Amino acid sequence: MKLIVVGLFFWAQSVIFCIKNLPIFFKHPYLIYIDFWLFIYYFFNFSQEKHLVEMKQACNKKGWSFNDDTSDFTYGETPYFTIRNILKSVSPTANDTFVDLGSGKGRCVLFAACYFGLEAVGVDMIPSFRILSSKVVNRLSLTSINLVESDFEAINFDNYSIIYICGTCFGKETWDIIHSKLGAVKTGTRVVSVTYSLQSSNLRMVSASVERFEWGLDKVYIYQCG
Ligand SMILES: C[S@@+](CC[C@H](N)C(=O)[O-])C[C@H]1O[C@@H](n2cnc3c(N)ncnc32)[C@H](O)[C@@H]1O
Repeated sequence: MKLIVVGLFFWAQSVIFCIKNLPIFFKHPYLIYIDFWLFIYYFFNFSQEKHLVEMKQACNKKGWSFNDDTSDFTYGETPYFTIRNILKSVSPTANDTFVDLGSGKGRCVLFAACYFGLEAVGVDMIPSFRILSSKVVNRLSLTSINLVESDFEAINFDNYSIIYICGTCFGKETWDIIHSKLGAVKTGTRVVSVTYSLQSSNLRMVSASVERFEWGLDKVYIYQCG
């Protein structure tokens, strides 16, 4: 019974999200095509079981043991209408480079590139996300998109001018690393943090708002360096 209620909830939510995404799909119908191919590749090549195995491997790489307290790799997505609102409020220009730290299936990255024409990079430790979403990128010959399989700890934050951190489930260790790396970003860089406010002294808060995500309403903090 509980399973049916949860299933109905997620079904109703995806219908509502689809309706809220309609104006976006009218403006950029290509996103429907992207979603279609994402669905096809993930439906036939990915499962909860495979995700679990890859999450365990990612934990091993980080030297963590995988248990109920390991929340860093918990999955949830930012809907298109939410990432549109967020990106609109950072006023992106053609010179900006967007990065999603922990990009999952890369929908925010694909959206940033297709809707705003940004050069966009997604970084995630789960191999299937890079492999399957890159197939969609290649199949549709999308340009300016790079999906990287890596720990975002290892990337240079100062290569990017818009940094998106949907870190609701990141643990303290991860947040400490993010904070130390944010200390080195370039002047003018905009940093978006979901759920948690940031404490880097070089970042000035520009706005705080509430947006809808797959897991419900959540806070979105926007900062600018310098
Ligand atoms: C909540 S999902 C966010 C997905 C996407 N950013 C979005 O908003 O739709 C968080 C993602 O971060 C990834 N992740 C967690 N820790 C990571 C790390 N250290 N390096 C790279 N990816 C990481 C997880 O695998 C997961 O896919």
